[in-house]
Amino acid sequence: MMDDKITNRVRQLQTALNEHSYYYHVLDDPKISDAEYDRLLHELKGLEEKYPQLVTQDSPTRRIGAPPLSAFEQAEHAIPMLSLDNAFSDQDILDFDARIRKNTGKDAIQYTVEPKLDGVAVELRYENGVLVQAATRGDGFVGEVITANVRTIRSVPLRLRTDGPLCPDLLEVRGEVFISRKGFQQLNDKRLAKGEPLFANPRNAAAGSLRQLDSAVTASRPLDIFMYGRGQVQGVAFDTQSGFLDALAAWGFAVNPLTQKQIAITTALTFYRRLMDLRPNLSYEIDGMVIKVDQVDLQQALGEKIKSPRWAIAYKFAAVEEVTRINDILVQVGRTGTLTPVAVLEPVKVGGVMVSRATLHNSDEIKKKDIRIGDQALVTRAGDVIPKVVKIMASARTGKEQIFEMPSHCPVCGSKVLRLEDEAAVKCINAACQAQRKERIRHFVSKKGFDIDGLGKKLVEQLVDEGLLSSFADLFSLKKEQLIPLDRMAEKSAQNLVTAIDKARQIPLHRFIFALGIDHTGENAARLLAKAFDTLDGLMAAEEADIEQIHGMGTITAKAIATFFDSPENQAVLQKITDSGVVITNTLAEQPGEKDHVFAGKTLVLTGTLSAMTRSEAKKALMDAGANVTGSVSSKTDFLVAGKDAGSKLNKARTLNVPVLDEDRFLEMLGS
Ligand code: IVH
Repeated sequence: MMDDKITNRVRQLQTALNEHSYYYHVLDDPKISDAEYDRLLHELKGLEEKYPQLVTQDSPTRRIGAPPLSAFEQAEHAIPMLSLDNAFSDQDILDFDARIRKNTGKDAIQYTVEPKLDGVAVELRYENGVLVQAATRGDGFVGEVITANVRTIRSVPLRLRTDGPLCPDLLEVRGEVFISRKGFQQLNDKRLAKGEPLFANPRNAAAGSLRQLDSAVTASRPLDIFMYGRGQVQGVAFDTQSGFLDALAAWGFAVNPLTQKQIAITTALTFYRRLMDLRPNLSYEIDGMVIKVDQVDLQQALGEKIKSPRWAIAYKFAAVEEVTRINDILVQVGRTGTLTPVAVLEPVKVGGVMVSRATLHNSDEIKKKDIRIGDQALVTRAGDVIPKVVKIMASARTGKEQIFEMPSHCPVCGSKVLRLEDEAAVKCINAACQAQRKERIRHFVSKKGFDIDGLGKKLVEQLVDEGLLSSFADLFSLKKEQLIPLDRMAEKSAQNLVTAIDKARQIPLHRFIFALGIDHTGENAARLLAKAFDTLDGLMAAEEADIEQIHGMGTITAKAIATFFDSPENQAVLQKITDSGVVITNTLAEQPGEKDHVFAGKTLVLTGTLSAMTRSEAKKALMDAGANVTGSVSSKTDFLVAGKDAGSKLNKARTLNVPVLDEDRFLEMLGS
């Protein structure tokens, strides 16, 4: 039995919780404690579970718990989401203003100026005041529908506040989803602890978080949003950009508080300098300032070019580069024994982020840039996890700088290193080297290999250091009792790990081959081998010449594979692995008639966006058909599959006369 009292209570809770969300996440001014909020939410959840007919689209409970998707749908933008022209100097901006004055015949123009956030552009669609859809920018014309994910962002109103202008029938509003610097740091710290790959920068973290098929993952990411633009709007009109932003704020959207409304161009230039000063202390990253003509009728008169409006421009900040001292050069040893030199820097903030290491790639790079210990170096952080040295400041040399030589012995195991012919890399070829061992085991248990949950970097290091893991095979005889005494381990986590290892004992042949981490043998080669030889024994019995014959297999890879299986030590480890109950099955065994597939043995490159499947789905389908998928177009490419918005690869294919398949043709051939 449901009475009005219950309906009223549910409505009251829904409204109150949405209000408190707004105070907390948009105004930064909470009115109740977190505990009180949780108590109200808990009560609402209970009632909605009991009376599901009372759940509304804008209920605060709808922010979480949407079922995971299998793919994103596409949505066309009624009005294309354009990009902006860039300006890099005051003169560029004065020219922009002069053009606008000339084209409008006005003496002076009023501008509205907003910080340019470095995030991910999205469009939110409100029908009769309720959020019904959110989509990414995509290629500007068609984006991906990410409604469930955007709903999890607390500063996105699920319903427009009624203190704004009259609720429009339709409102498409655009903005930038971002992650604060602190949120980014915490997210990466968590990933580091779990041994997961790190996000290069807050923008990538935001983009990755929005592209989750399971909105529960998105909900766990500290996403935020500022709104700044219009799409299609019906039932209300705006005269100015500043008036539009005021309306957005009144409707409950977050609008960047640094926005400057209705200012002259010279004031905009002054504000640009102020924004540069404020930048390091902002809690989020910005990469410039956007200047927009304030009056909508003038915007319309100026119009748009193909990719960008004539009435707005981005005044970008110069690239983030700083000069600092190279205190030392260290050498790291990777999985295949490659020695990588890394500069130890005098810590410096580059674009607001503390940097103390920079990769130097290899000794050729060091020679080419003449990098020495003690040099002052220009360091950039162009979207990479590990920053780079752009160049050294030759004029700052004192003569005390030391030339760096790659060591003749491995810094970890002490054995002699080799520089292979025609390779820039210097290698430690001692297979028993601890550094390699750790990296090899990490690769062995990684997602595309044995995929063992909970076995991250730190834990692998400990297991190797404690002597519990000296080869892959040891993994399968690990006992709970051996794990419990390790750092950050307890009864339960030790048991979970043992269970995860147990579960991983059954593995497809191609993943097993990949896990071995043989030189040059990635996913593609592993699949080709699994197909060609069917069983591990078959592969182990193969001669180098047999491997080389596989279509799509390179000679260097074939040699590395044959060498690997020829080694008595490797054979012993493989024997131990299979003895410890690992069951290898072949899920890629050649189907009868499969050899006849049009793509079998062909080399393809995928580019652009496909509408029927994601790029990795297409890659998998092709590999299953026996094709080879590579990343760049060359004369060896048989076909280029070009989806929407294909760019440089398409041009290259045309120059090289590589046949190009559009999506329809590709699907047709794939299906045949
Ligand atoms: S206005 C037609 N305003 O910058 C106007 N864009 O390079 C198009 N962006 O795709 C965008 N902050 O992702 C605008 N205050 C702001 C912005 C902003 C960041 C991003 C947006 C856009 C890109 C254009």
